[in-house]
Amino acid sequence: MCGIVGALAKRDITPVLLQGLQRLEYRGYDSAGIAVVDAENAVQRRRTQGKVKNLEALINEQPLSGFCGISHTRWATHGVPSENNAHPHLCEDIALVHNGIIENHEELRKQQIEQGHEFDSETDTEVIVHLVHDEYKAEGDLFKAVQNSIKQLEGAYALGVIEQSNNNRLVAARKGSPLVIGIGEGEYFIASDVFALLGEAKKFIYLEDGDIADITLEGVTIYDVAGKQVTRAINETELKANNIGLGRYRHYMQKEIFEQAAVLKQTIEGRIGNGRLLDSCFGVDANEAFKTIEEVQIVACGTSYHAGVVAKYWFESIAGIPCHIEVASEFRYRPHIVNKKTLFVTISQSGETADTLAALQASAELGYANTLSICNVPESSLVRGSEWHLMTKAGPEIGVASTKAFTTQLAALLLLVVALGKHHLISKKTEVNIVRQLEILPEKVAEVLRLEPEIIKFAEAFEGANNALFLGRGEQYPVAMEGALKLKEVSYIHAEAYPAGELKHGPLALVDEHMPIVAVAPNNDLLEKLKSNLQEVQARGGKLFVFADKLASFEEAEGLSLIRVSEIDDIIAPIIYTIPLQLLAYHVAVIKGTDVDQPRNLAKSVTVE
Ligand code: M6R
Repeated sequence: MCGIVGALAKRDITPVLLQGLQRLEYRGYDSAGIAVVDAENAVQRRRTQGKVKNLEALINEQPLSGFCGISHTRWATHGVPSENNAHPHLCEDIALVHNGIIENHEELRKQQIEQGHEFDSETDTEVIVHLVHDEYKAEGDLFKAVQNSIKQLEGAYALGVIEQSNNNRLVAARKGSPLVIGIGEGEYFIASDVFALLGEAKKFIYLEDGDIADITLEGVTIYDVAGKQVTRAINETELKANNIGLGRYRHYMQKEIFEQAAVLKQTIEGRIGNGRLLDSCFGVDANEAFKTIEEVQIVACGTSYHAGVVAKYWFESIAGIPCHIEVASEFRYRPHIVNKKTLFVTISQSGETADTLAALQASAELGYANTLSICNVPESSLVRGSEWHLMTKAGPEIGVASTKAFTTQLAALLLLVVALGKHHLISKKTEVNIVRQLEILPEKVAEVLRLEPEIIKFAEAFEGANNALFLGRGEQYPVAMEGALKLKEVSYIHAEAYPAGELKHGPLALVDEHMPIVAVAPNNDLLEKLKSNLQEVQARGGKLFVFADKLASFEEAEGLSLIRVSEIDDIIAPIIYTIPLQLLAYHVAVIKGTDVDQPRNLAKSVTVE
C-alpha cells in the first residue's frame, strides 16, 4: 500500500525522505516521488515509476534539497503505475501526498473541471490537491485549507501537505489510513508507520481517525474530527533501525521463517506457567466475560483468515464452542443473525487492514457482546478499536508474504481456545497437555526448520510448473490453504488447496504428470483417509510431494516424494506443518528468481478496500 514520509527540520531533509521510502518499500508499491520547499521557497518535485532506487538515481542527476518536504510510494488503485500518476501531486502553491481511496473523486473531478482545473493524472488523489488549492486561495492559510477540504472528502485518507513559500509548515490528516507523527530533536516527521522514521525520531504520536495536525518547528497542534484541539499520547518504540536488517539471510521471508522458534517462544512466554494458562493472559475483565461467551465469530483476511479457519477446528473439536469464520470483505456486506453472547474476534498482522477494521466497526452495530483482536502491532487501529487484545510477539514482519505472523497467530489462538474452553469442554488435563505442547513448540519448530536442505530438492521439481494442488484434511486443510497462498504469492505459480476428500468431486480432472500435488500428513485419525485420497492421485500419474509424520507408514515410490516430519502431538501439528510449506514456497520463488519480499501487485498492509 502507499507509503508516506514527511519531514520538517533545520537541515536538508531529502536523505530522510528517501531513507523513509526505502524503509516503507516492504509495504508494496509501483512508483515513488518527493517534493521539497527549496532555499528559494519554491516547491521542487521528482517522481519516477518503479523502485525507490530509480527515484534516487533521478535525484542524483537532478538534485534537490530543502528543510521541509513530503515523499511517497504509490500502490496503484486509480490509474496505471506511471510518473504522472505518482505522488506528490501539485496545484500551484500546494503539494500533497495521499494514502487511501477517495470515493467521491469522480463527482469532485467533474466540478473542478467545470471550475477550470486541469488534471495531470488519472488518480483519485488529484482532486484533493485542487480542493486544498481552492480553499487556500480563499483562506490564505494552509491548515484551514486542509481542514475545509477534508470535510468534502468521502472515503479514506492519510495526507501530508506542504505549501510553496513556507518551509516551516507541514499539515497531516488521517481517516481510515494510518499516519504517525515522529518527534525528533527540534524536528518533526510524519510517516505511514514508525519503521520509516527509526533513527530520526524516538517519540511518536499515533493520529486518531479524523485528526488533523498542524506541524511547525515550534511544535505540533492536533484537532479532532469535531475541530476541538486535543492532546494525543506520546509513545516510545522499542524498535531500533538495526532490528529490521537482513542479518545473514538472503531475503526477509527466509529470515522471518527462521525466526519462528524464537517469536513463538516470545508469544507464549509470560502467558503460561505451572502447566496452566495464566489469568493475566487476557486480564480480569475478559476472564469474567469469557464465562458467559457461547459462540465465537472470527473475521480476518488472507493469511490471518487461514489462522482463523484452523482456530474454528480447535474451538469446535477441543473446546466445544461453536465458531464461525468469514473473510472480512464478505462479512461487512451481508446481514448477520447474531447470538449476542458471541465473542467477535479479529485477526491481523498489521492491525490496519481496511476490511478487517470495517468489520470490527460493523460488529458494534450488529450487537456482538465483546470484541477481541489478535494482532502484531500494539499501536494499530485494530488494537485501539477492540475491547481486548492479545498481541502476537512476532516482531516486525517485512516480507509481504506473511510467515511468522501466521504461526504466532495460531499460538495466540490456542491460548484463546483454552481461556474460553475452560468454561466449556476443556478439562484441567486437556489444558495441561495444550500448555505442555506450547512449551515444547519452539524446539519442535527448530527441528522442522532443519529440513530446509531436503525441501530445496522438492522445490527444484516446481521450477517448470504452472499449477499446483495442496491437500490436507481436518485442521490441515487450512494449512494446505496457507501453503497454496504462499506459493502463489511469491512464485506466481497458480496453486489451489482442497480438503483431500473433495478431489474426486472435481479437481481430480486436473491431475496429470505435469501437476505437482503437495500433501500434509500428520499421524492423526484422518491419516488413512488421506492416504486413500493420495492413491487416487498416484493412480492418475500425479506427482505427489508429501510431508508426513515419521510414524505415518508412507513409502517413497514412483510419483511419491517424501519428507519425514518428526513425531508431534496433534494440537501443534497445524503450526509445525505450515513451516515446510513456507520453506517450499520460498525456495521455489528463489529458484524462479521472483521478487520474494515484494511480490508483484501485492501490498503488505492493505489499508484500502
Ligand atoms: O495485516 P493483516 O494480517 O490483516 O493482512 C491480511 C492479509 O492482507 C495478509 O495476510 C496477506 O494475505 C498476506 N500477503 C499473506 O501472505
